[in-house]
Amino acid sequence: MTKQLTGRTIFITGSGGVLGSTYVRRMLEQGARVVATDLPGHRAEALQAAHAGNEAFRFYDLDVGDEAQVTEIFKRVLADGWEPNVVLNNAAITGEMLMGAGKPFPDFADTSVADFERTLRTNLTGAFMVARQMDRDIVGRWPAALINVASMYALNGAHHPIYDGMPFKNFSAYGVTKAGIHGLTVWLAGYWAPRGATVNTIAPGAVFNNHSEEFQRRVGELIMLNRMAKPDEIADAMLFLCSAGAGYMTGQLVNVDGGFSAW
Ligand SMILES: NC(=O)c1ccc[n+]([C@@H]2O[C@H](COP(=O)([O-])OP(=O)(O)OC[C@H]3O[C@@H](n4cnc5c(N)ncnc54)[C@H](O)[C@@H]3O)[C@@H](O)[C@H]2O)c1
Repeated sequence: MTKQLTGRTIFITGSGGVLGSTYVRRMLEQGARVVATDLPGHRAEALQAAHAGNEAFRFYDLDVGDEAQVTEIFKRVLADGWEPNVVLNNAAITGEMLMGAGKPFPDFADTSVADFERTLRTNLTGAFMVARQMDRDIVGRWPAALINVASMYALNGAHHPIYDGMPFKNFSAYGVTKAGIHGLTVWLAGYWAPRGATVNTIAPGAVFNNHSEEFQRRVGELIMLNRMAKPDEIADAMLFLCSAGAGYMTGQLVNVDGGFSAW
């Protein structure tokens, strides 16, 4: 039986994270070839170890905020013989990442321009640079799809009280960049349509990653289905967007948030 992603060569940024690593596993199971990229470090190493020896998996170091690296990345992949037809702008500076790095979450009044701009650089300028390089190296040469990753906190504000007393918060630059990325989607959708490329946004809801029972309860009250998502539940929608079955979708924002955005 043909698998859902047979014939797809999927390029993904930030692939070693909670969701990225789930996407990679599920994509490989569904017959895709996966070009995984991430910053060097423990996430990247764990991902490479998990898929070592799988001929459908390749890994490249990539900092999406580094213009020189982004300019070269598809040329390197093409020179190695694979032609990506799906690209995922998944990398982001997230609360999980800041927490893992031991970074405090300052109040809004104490947020530095440097931290705000660092988030813009990765989450928004990085996504723009990857899309621009896709335009240069892929779009128009073969049918292709770009999927930008937003968040339930893109077009809805964060519910600040649920973070009271928690070791992490939602930070302003995050929501700003996640709102902005859908602007890139709708701008590019019409621009690329004549050249046979689609662009969509996925907006995941709150994904469970060892959060406390108290946090799960608080966030659950904001969600129609009354619970956080499992990474595989976000992957189910992501795999569809990566598949040929999504070929007539472009310029869309797909919420996978248990009903958070629909109250
Ligand atoms: N987990 C959630 O609850 C949730 C909810 C909504 C949206 N999202 C979005 O889904 C995507 C994946 O989230 P996640 O939960 O896996 O996050 P994560 O923090 O576990 O992973 C993010 C990944 O991005 C990488 N990254 C950070 N800066 C980078 C850079 N400059 N260049 C390349 N890679 C870089 C990190 O190394 C990491 O592997 C993100 O865009 C995130 O904003 C996540």
